[in-house]
Amino acid sequence: MAKLVDNSFESLSKCAEYLIAGELVAFPTETVYGLGASLWNNDALNAVFIAKKRPKTDPLIVHVQNQEEAKKLVSLKQNEEECFNVLTKKFWPGPLTIILRSASIVPKIVMAGGAFVGIRAPSHKTAQQLLSLSKVPIAAPSANTFGHVSPTKSYHVFDDLKDVSDLWIIDDDTKCDIGIESTVIKIEDKTIELLRPGLITASKIQKEITENKLDFLVIERKKYIENEKISEKQERNKNVSRETFLENAPGQCLTHYSPWVETYIIFDPKTQRTDQFPLRKKQKLLDTDLNISAIVDFGKQYLQYRNIALSYSDLSEVKDIQEAAQKLFIVLRTIEKIQGIKKILIANILFEDDFANALFDRIYRAASGKFVEI
Ligand code: TXA
Ligand code: MG
Repeated sequence: MAKLVDNSFESLSKCAEYLIAGELVAFPTETVYGLGASLWNNDALNAVFIAKKRPKTDPLIVHVQNQEEAKKLVSLKQNEEECFNVLTKKFWPGPLTIILRSASIVPKIVMAGGAFVGIRAPSHKTAQQLLSLSKVPIAAPSANTFGHVSPTKSYHVFDDLKDVSDLWIIDDDTKCDIGIESTVIKIEDKTIELLRPGLITASKIQKEITENKLDFLVIERKKYIENEKISEKQERNKNVSRETFLENAPGQCLTHYSPWVETYIIFDPKTQRTDQFPLRKKQKLLDTDLNISAIVDFGKQYLQYRNIALSYSDLSEVKDIQEAAQKLFIVLRTIEKIQGIKKILIANILFEDDFANALFDRIYRAASGKFVEI
């Protein structure tokens, strides 16, 4: 059974000892909670995959205190190092994961057998304290069951992982402020590829590259389109297992961050055009749907359904993307627990800025690309 502990210095010191001894510690970061294991303990790394029911083909991010610690784990060419220095000087500690060619000391299991390791220095005070007390790099995916919504509260972690033995969950009052996972980029040769959008957007990265006159190309993957192709391929060829699929594109599968309840994005023909979104599947909303549905609004667009739907909440009445990101996972996990809920209908977040794209990415995945016309 997992155990909750507070975030006092004494508790964190104990958690650091548990980590070194090969036990697991779930800790808050500025994005979401991580399920941590010492990078130097193979049994603990294995236990992370088992606890999350995560396929071994999906690599883990390694958390470190700072640039110097990260450099011990990688093997970079001169230009890659310059790029790494510029980006980490600007964005670390913070919500940017950088995938780099690894040094030979990094255990293969965290890289899913590949040659690249994902690294990030979190800014959250508790995460930093844990890293400094344990003096080990901490491998940590998000602390949820594989495929479920990421956790931003200690009780979210407990809900998913309570049956895991030798797991300590740090119960921390300070919020996971950002609320969605870090941006993931890969630096290789002269390219920076954006693999997962987040608070650190492609344009912020591009700005640093330009200002520092680095000869690097920033490539932004249009993930939902990619994912659409991937899932079509999966549908066409039922023999291709989810595992084989993940091997080719770790962490890129369409159904990710999903609530246990069927979820749809609201498509509103009055305000939206079909060519604005990757409409994978669209169906009409039936009147009978509403009394078994939870509406998740954005900017009070669907207030008229407040008393008809089984549940109504608003990610941000004033259309603040940061507020919406902070609330999204909490709202989805709260709705899952409401008796009688069969559907979640989320307002579409229009592409108002780069960060909205990151939020749309999470909503699109929660809904597995399904839209409902209202
Ligand atoms: O904000 C975050 O990044 C949180 C906190 C705990 O740091 N962590 C997190 O980890 O979201 P996870 O494992 O849930 O997501 C990491 C993503 C996955 O999609 C994984 O496939 C990808 O990053 N990733 C990690 N290492 C990689 C590597 N070496 N090569 C390719 N993709 C990698
Ligand atoms: Mg995750």
